[in-house]
Amino acid sequence: MYRLPKYFFVLVSIALASHGSLFAAEPLSVPDDFPAGPLGEVVRLGQLLVHETKDHPLSKPYVGNQLSCTSCHLEDGQDPQAGSFIGTASAYPAWSPREKRVITLEDRVLNCFMRSQNGVRPPNGSQVSVAITAYITWLSSGTQIEMNPKKPLGPKHVPPVDLSEIETSTERGKLLYKAQCLDCHGQAGEGTADGPPVWGPQSYNDGAGLSRNDKLTSWLKVGMPLGDPSLSVQEAADLAAYINSHERPHFKLEEHLPAHDKRGEYNAEP
Ligand code: HEC
Ligand code: HEC
Repeated sequence: MYRLPKYFFVLVSIALASHGSLFAAEPLSVPDDFPAGPLGEVVRLGQLLVHETKDHPLSKPYVGNQLSCTSCHLEDGQDPQAGSFIGTASAYPAWSPREKRVITLEDRVLNCFMRSQNGVRPPNGSQVSVAITAYITWLSSGTQIEMNPKKPLGPKHVPPVDLSEIETSTERGKLLYKAQCLDCHGQAGEGTADGPPVWGPQSYNDGAGLSRNDKLTSWLKVGMPLGDPSLSVQEAADLAAYINSHERPHFKLEEHLPAHDKRGEYNAEP
């Protein structure tokens, strides 16, 4: 067989190395250090709030279920795939088709409280809001800004799986759930000490991203089983159909907005 000369590999390495610098917009990894001084303290607080959202005294009042941001944004959003926050801030402000307006990263953070956390939107500028937004922005250090004109989603988001060609079965999903998920998420999806609820009153509501089967499928594919994401697209789609076939809180916007005087102008007329 024809053997490539050694210098070929040298050339390839040089080409790859320069490719890296040509595409400086490529999202980077988690920064080594927190910023100095009080800013660093706020960034640390933000990480703590992402990790303990449902329990921390600052964020707990705004949470309406047994989830924390890290339940879906794995490893406090430092997982490279499942709900990664790495590079996210570089996509904002972004156009949001749902709100039909341009939203900031802070708005995006606060909206997750209403749907995924089934809670109440914390006021813009509140400590919770500033700290979490600072933490997510820190995870974008060094990433080139490229505002998203289509959707409020960052460069690392996992696109929803196209389910139009996939036939799903809640029956198959049920069997898979029993075999691979039940130990951690419970017989009735209610959660255990080893995993949060996946349906029922303590889960995300039907306005959340994961309540859509295509988004849950793509998230499961890169996120579960925890520590060993290994589902095929078909399995993830069957599981998503099964999980989302159960009851969960119904989203009504007015029930999730703060009092008028705390809402600010931006969301006065959603
Ligand atoms: C039940 C799961 C779940 C929980 C809990 C959750 N999120 Fe999310 N979040 C998602 C999903 C799924 C997306 C992507 C949504 C989409 O594709 O529209 C998302 C998107 C985001 C984004 C935009 C990411 C990007 O790429 O631009 C931010 C920021 C965010 N969430 C912040 C938070 C914060 C802060 C919390 C906690 C207060 C939180 N989320 C809780 C599931 C969740
Ligand atoms: C070893 C325990 C474990 C197994 C097995 C497991 N999970 Fe999870 N799962 C978790 C934990 C823990 C989280 C939250 C992540 C965190 O807090 O770090 C989670 C998060 C989730 C979430 C998002 C948060 C929520 O509760 O809605 C879904 C959905 C989910 N898992 C579904 C599944 C499915 C489907 C399977 C089976 C294929 C599965 N999990 C297997 C432990 C597990």
